[in-house]
Amino acid sequence: MTEAILLVGGKGTRLRPLTVNTPKPMVPAAGVPFLTHQLARARAAGVEHIVLATSYLAEVFEPYFGDGSSLGLSLEYVTEREPLGTGGAIRNVAERLTSGPDEPVLIFNGDILTGLDIGALVETHRGSGADVSLHLTRVADPRAFGLVPTDETGRVTAFLEKPQTPEEIVTDQINAGAYVFRRSVIDTIPAGRPVSVERETFPDLLSSGAHLQGMVDSTYWLDLGTPQAFVRGSADLVLGRAPSPAVPGRRGDRLVLDSASVAPDAKLTGGTVIGEGARVASGARVHASVVLTGAVIEEGAHISSSLIGAHSHIGPRTILDDTVIGDGAHIGADNELRSGLRVWCDTTLPPGAVRFSSDQ
Ligand code: GTP
Repeated sequence: MTEAILLVGGKGTRLRPLTVNTPKPMVPAAGVPFLTHQLARARAAGVEHIVLATSYLAEVFEPYFGDGSSLGLSLEYVTEREPLGTGGAIRNVAERLTSGPDEPVLIFNGDILTGLDIGALVETHRGSGADVSLHLTRVADPRAFGLVPTDETGRVTAFLEKPQTPEEIVTDQINAGAYVFRRSVIDTIPAGRPVSVERETFPDLLSSGAHLQGMVDSTYWLDLGTPQAFVRGSADLVLGRAPSPAVPGRRGDRLVLDSASVAPDAKLTGGTVIGEGARVASGARVHASVVLTGAVIEEGAHISSSLIGAHSHIGPRTILDDTVIGDGAHIGADNELRSGLRVWCDTTLPPGAVRFSSDQ
């Protein structure tokens, strides 16, 4: 049976301030810590043993997931003393693996939402006899990504840094953050120092003649590293556009957790999720957003494409569009916040303090 490593130790800087108190994989998407979706999908693909490589805010994972038995998994946790990067993290958990030297080990980035056929990736790996196999996805605009061209058999021919000119865009295939390693290859990663699997391990393997195989799988794929992507991913889970066995409720326009309260005339649309103990008052509208535990949305507030932190408070008639509100922040009435604005945890914004329009 295939075992897996999940990389969950990153600082999640792009998602701040939501990752000030919570590591990115533990931020709830569609009502449960995002990691739950990945664990459930791995389990559904037949994975039974998973080692979590933790670093930043490492202490919160085990109290929540325990030994993994509630998900039908056997989970182990390994914490780095200093962050070791993606490759160093993989090397650091090697001693917990039980696979033989030629057996495949799955490795997942902890912030990818995807419908990848995990079994097919393992099959591709076995069939091609590769040392490492990578899930590749195609993107419309590859400029922000490292590119991974392959030959006609799917064998990786290069790892290219972010392209700077149109001529450098030689493919639309990018590294999608899921790999299968031959177990013995993991043991060749240098131990005890930071290593980037993307920038160091893969290019080094390629130049030493190793066989790296790409599998292009163009099902749903989203890197949840930014606030915009995170709210999109959560909404897609709620709407049923992104697959997960772990969404706690029926798919639809909204997901309201049991202990939340929503006024009968409040409108929740676009895959919005209202977290435990949160409250949405009369006349409020919340579209395609994530409202976390214990947050309060007051009368007539209009929220779209936003992440509302735990125990924060959104005042009456306030408008939020494409914003992140940190845990415990208090946004007074009649504010208008837009365009990627981030309010830090525990900040207080007085009523009417920020407007984008000139109507007040
Ligand atoms: P940003 O700071 O916003 O770039 O996010 P990040 O820290 O998560 O970095 P990135 O998205 O590049 O990381 C990809 C995956 O590797 C994520 O699942 C991270 O949790 C994980 N990761 C990154 N660095 C480390 C590390 O030093 N140790 C461990 N264990 N995991 C890491």
